[in-house]
Amino acid sequence: MLPFFRTKLINFIMKNNGEISLDPNNWDEIRKLGYQSIDLMIEYLSNIEQNKVWKPIPPKTKEYFSSSIPLKPQSTNEIFDDFINNILPYPSGNIHPRFWGFVKGTGTPTGAIAELLATTMNSNTGGGEHIANYVELQIIEWAKEMLNFDKKASGLITSGCSMANLTGLAVARNVMSNNDIRKEGLRSMSQDFVIYGSDQIHSSIKKSIETLGIGSNNITLIPTNDKFEMDVENLEKTIQDDISNGKIPMAVVANAGTVNTGAIDPLNKIAEITKKYKIWYHIDGAFGALAKIVPEYDDIMFGLELADSIAFDMHKWMYMPYEIGLILVKDPIAHKLTFTLRPDYLSEETRGFSSFKNWATEYGIELSRGFRSLKAWFLIKEHGFKKYQLLIHQNIKQARYLGTLIEASDQLEILAPIALNIVCFRFIFSNKDDAINDSLNKEVLLRIQEEGIALFSSTILNNKYALRVAITNHRTKMSDIDLTISKILEIGNTLKK
Ligand SMILES: Cc1ncc(COP(=O)(O)O)c(C=O)c1O
Repeated sequence: MLPFFRTKLINFIMKNNGEISLDPNNWDEIRKLGYQSIDLMIEYLSNIEQNKVWKPIPPKTKEYFSSSIPLKPQSTNEIFDDFINNILPYPSGNIHPRFWGFVKGTGTPTGAIAELLATTMNSNTGGGEHIANYVELQIIEWAKEMLNFDKKASGLITSGCSMANLTGLAVARNVMSNNDIRKEGLRSMSQDFVIYGSDQIHSSIKKSIETLGIGSNNITLIPTNDKFEMDVENLEKTIQDDISNGKIPMAVVANAGTVNTGAIDPLNKIAEITKKYKIWYHIDGAFGALAKIVPEYDDIMFGLELADSIAFDMHKWMYMPYEIGLILVKDPIAHKLTFTLRPDYLSEETRGFSSFKNWATEYGIELSRGFRSLKAWFLIKEHGFKKYQLLIHQNIKQARYLGTLIEASDQLEILAPIALNIVCFRFIFSNKDDAINDSLNKEVLLRIQEEGIALFSSTILNNKYALRVAITNHRTKMSDIDLTISKILEIGNTLKK
């Protein structure tokens, strides 16, 4: 240990009767740091549109993050300055009004404050009789109410939709097996499970099926129509063939909003098929499930409430700070039987801390869990449910507006119907050669990103490279869309020369 540090530590220990802790010596310093942080947050977020959406991290800064572990303490002032210089300038960009890449939510200032309060309480929501667990249950109830889902359903707040999909499909696997799969494992099964999903399913479904030991070769990808929606006739025929061949159809995974284009599978028809053949019905509604709350989508989203399990995120289209996803399972007993395990050291009591029923750890894999629901509780109360209906609709209208700008330009081309908040399109560099279109559109995307104008991502549709704008952003304005389209045209025309 360095001599300077040793002397400081010895002095400190002497002053505190030999006892140490991580609390500050001087609480006023923390108060100052807190005020400074809140000032910074307000300054930063209220002027966010003046920043570049994204900027590359300089090699020197990257190098700075390969230093060895600090041995001596640093003042919080120093650390705060370090944060301002080396971390804050390089965010992922999804707080900016012109971030529309992948499917990322925007966050809100009150959400950040709620996170501070949640970590101040530092509640572990794995279980126990304390208020955070009642807040968790409240959010699960509100989620059911929002989606018009069965009131008796159980639920779990997760880190995101990948974990929610995994949790729902774990319940499906156990329910659909006629053995005690928890004890015997998949080896005890005499027939193979098959999982069905459209050729547009998200990678997290594939990962879930791999993690559950079923193997992604046992996912049958059902073709989609020209709107990228599952072909349900093909689904039914494939199920019939598989049953005749002695396979066990385990689950159909429907998309309420595909990641590529936002397409919504025929939810009600899939419900009829899964009921007819007694197959688990799981919906991956990461962002699109929230369209259920927009009255205009009543018909299209009909059938969502018929699922056995539904996974979605509040950190995407409810704009909450990361992380918060949710799984709802219609059969609470099946849900609990998949995960419950209460060894002696976690036994339930009739009184005291362990008297709480509904331990979250009995509904999922984690034991220790953070207090993710506090921000949801804060934000839904702050804005009211109706505001979310309006904001989600606003994003859909923005996507449609972008669609009209693309349709109006003879230099741009729409590559998929706009079902929700996602627009896939390209600049037409060549009418004959898609290799040219692919490489130059990629160049357009990279220049827009690197110049910090906007940030959208890409995908491939019908073998064509597509620029993909997914709007789950409460800060976006129509003028952001205008500006981005004019820049795309400008860059496209420069590249065309
Ligand atoms: C349709 C779909 N499902 C699942 C996921 C995974 O969600 P998360 O990133 O919250 O794990 C995503 C993420 O974009 C998605 O779009």
